[in-house]
Amino acid sequence: MKAEQGLRVGVVGCGYWGSKHVRTLLSLEAVSRVCVIDPSAERRSAVTRVYPRVDEYSTLSDALGQLDAVVIAVPPTLHAPLALEAIAHGVHVLVEKPLAPTVTECEAMVTAAEKQGVTLMVGHTFEYHSAVWELRSMVQRGDLGDLYYLDTARLNLGLYQRDVNVVFDLAPHDISILNYVLGSSPSMVECWGARNAHPRLEDVAQLRLYYDDPGVFANVHVSWLNPKKIRQVTMVGSNKMVVFDDLKAEQRVKVHDKGVTAMSDGADLTAVPMSYRHGDIVSPYLEMNEPLRVEDEHFMDCVQTGLRPLTDGESGLEVVRVLEAAQRAMSEGVAVRLPQCAGARTPVPSLAGSASDLLSGASHGEAAG
Ligand SMILES: NC(=O)c1ccc[n+]([C@@H]2O[C@H](COP(=O)([O-])OP(=O)(O)OC[C@H]3O[C@@H](n4cnc5c(N)ncnc54)[C@H](O)[C@@H]3O)[C@@H](O)[C@H]2O)c1
Repeated sequence: MKAEQGLRVGVVGCGYWGSKHVRTLLSLEAVSRVCVIDPSAERRSAVTRVYPRVDEYSTLSDALGQLDAVVIAVPPTLHAPLALEAIAHGVHVLVEKPLAPTVTECEAMVTAAEKQGVTLMVGHTFEYHSAVWELRSMVQRGDLGDLYYLDTARLNLGLYQRDVNVVFDLAPHDISILNYVLGSSPSMVECWGARNAHPRLEDVAQLRLYYDDPGVFANVHVSWLNPKKIRQVTMVGSNKMVVFDDLKAEQRVKVHDKGVTAMSDGADLTAVPMSYRHGDIVSPYLEMNEPLRVEDEHFMDCVQTGLRPLTDGESGLEVVRVLEAAQRAMSEGVAVRLPQCAGARTPVPSLAGSASDLLSGASHGEAAG
C-alpha cells in the first residue's frame, strides 16, 4: 500500500450502488485513483462517460495488481468469492451488505482477512447516518424511559434482486440499525414471508427480533411489493416515542412527547382505562452528511491507519447470523434461538457524537490485523 501517494481503489460491480461508490470515492482526498471492474461493457461505459478519469477492467484478477483496496458491489452470491480473491492478494475490502448470504462464507472472509492482516469492512450504510447516531444516543441516555418496542418498515415497489430474497436484500439495513442502536444482537428470531410476484424468492416478510439486553423486541417489515415507498424506524418508550423517516427532506427524526398510563387494571368496566399524554414534538439537529461518503471515508481511514472499522467483518457476520436464522424460522415456521456472542456490539459512545469523532476514530477500537 502506498498510503502517502493516495490509495488506488477498485469498485467491483458498477451497477446501481457501485456507481454511487465511484462518485464518493472520487471526492475523497485519500484516494488517488479509482477504477471500475465489471464484465458488462455497457455498465462500465455508463460510469466512464460521466467520470473519464476512471480506469476500467472486465475482471477483478486483471485489476488486482494495480489496487490497494476494493469496494465489492456485485449481487450478494458473488460477495464471498470476489472478496476472498482480493484478500488473498493482500488487498483491503469493503463488501456491500449482506456480507455474504451464508454464515460459513462470512466466517471464511473474517478468517482470511485476519490472516492476511487486511481491513474487512461491511457496507452497513445506516451506521454512518447521523439520524441513526441520534437514535442510539437517545437510547443510551434513557430519553424514552422504558423501551417498549421498536418497529421498522422498508417497503417499496421493487427492486427485485436476482439471487437473494427480500429478507437478505433489505433486512440487513434494519438489523444493523437495531443492533447498533440497542448495542446488542438478538437472541431469538421469528419470521414470516411469502412469495407473491416472484416464483422462487420471498418478496414480503415480517421478522420479529428479541433482544435480551435491553429486554425488548423489534418488528421488521420488508417488502418489494408495496405501492408506497416507506423507510421508517419507530421506537416506543414509556416517556417518549421517536420516528425516523428517511424519506423526509428535513426533520427526519421527530421525538413525540406522548405517552399512555394505565388508570385501572381493567376489572372495573365503568372506569377510564388509560390516561393519554400529548406533549411537544421536537426534531433534534442532525449533522448534514452523506452516509455513503462517511462510510467510504471511514474505510479509507481504516486502510491507512489499521483502525478496525465500525462495521467490521464480525458485525457483518452477526447480521448474517440473524438473516440465516430468519430464513430457517420462515422455512420451518419455528422461532430460532441465536447464540449470544461475547462482547458483541460493545457500545461505542464517541460514534453517537459526530462524523468527525467517527473519522478520527478517537476512541473506538484497536487496529485490524
Ligand atoms: N448499502 C446500501 O444502501 C445498498 C444499496 C443498494 C445496493 N446495495 C448492495 O450493493 C450490491 C449491488 O447491488 P446493485 O443494486 O448495485 O446491483 P446491480 O445489479 O445494479 O449491479 C451489480 C453489478 O455487478 C456486476 N457484476 C456481476 N458479476 C460481476 C463480477 N464477477 N465482477 C464484477 N462485476 C460483476 C453487474 O454487471 C452489475 O453491473 C448488492 O450487494 C446490494 O445488496 C447496497
